[in-house]
Amino acid sequence: MLRVIRISALLLLALVVGVWGYAWTTRGPDETLGEAFASRLAGIFGQELAVPSAGGGGMQLPGGITLGGAFELTNQEGRAVTDRDFAGRWMLVYFGFTYCPDVCPTELGTIASALDAMGADGEQVTPVLISIDPERDTPAALADYVGRFHPRMQGLTGTPEQVAAVARRYRVYYSKVQRPEMTTYLMDHSSFIYLVGPDGRVRSMFRPETSPEAMASAVTSQLRSGARPAS
Ligand code: NI
Repeated sequence: MLRVIRISALLLLALVVGVWGYAWTTRGPDETLGEAFASRLAGIFGQELAVPSAGGGGMQLPGGITLGGAFELTNQEGRAVTDRDFAGRWMLVYFGFTYCPDVCPTELGTIASALDAMGADGEQVTPVLISIDPERDTPAALADYVGRFHPRMQGLTGTPEQVAAVARRYRVYYSKVQRPEMTTYLMDHSSFIYLVGPDGRVRSMFRPETSPEAMASAVTSQLRSGARPAS
C-alpha cells in the first residue's frame, strides 16, 4: 500500500514537472509562466475528465480559478463593446480566427448546432467569436464570417493589446505560426468553448470535439439551475 502511494506521488510529481516544462517552452509572449501552467493543466484535464453532472463534455472549474470578466473590444459593426454590453446574457464564447482551415469552423458549427438543438432556451445564449488574429480579422471580415454560422453570432476583434488582455482573462493561448513553405501565416491556439454566465464569469468549459448534443444538454441544465456561480 505504501509503495502504491509512493509511486502515485512520484507519478503526480512527474506530471506537474512535465506540464511545468511544457508550459515553460510553449508559453506565449504575453503569458506569465503561472498562466501558461494553468492553461496547459486545464488542457490536460479538459481532455481526460468529463464531469457527468455537467452533462458529459461540460467541465466545471475548480473553485478559486476565475475565468472571464472585463474586456474592451470592437464588434463586427465596428462599434466599441465591453463585457457590460453582454451583462445579464449567457454567452458561448470561442477564441479563433477566420483564416483557420479546420478546427475553428468545426467548433463554431458545434456552437450553432447546440443552440439550435436547445430550441427556445437557445435564445437566451449569445454565440461569440473573439478573434485572436486581429491583424487580419477586421470587423468587416468577421461580419461576413460569423454570419455563415449563426444569425445571432457576434464577432469581436480589437487592438493586439485588447485581444491579449481578454485572452489572458480566459487563459487562452495563441501564437503566430509561419512556416517557410506557406505564403501566409496560421495561428496556433487553444480551443475550448466557454459558457459564460450573466455575471460575465465562465461557468463551464467544453473541450474540443464536444458533440452539439452534449453541449446543448449541459448548457440547458446550467440555464435552469439559475444565475448562481458554479463554484
Ligand atoms: Ni482555429
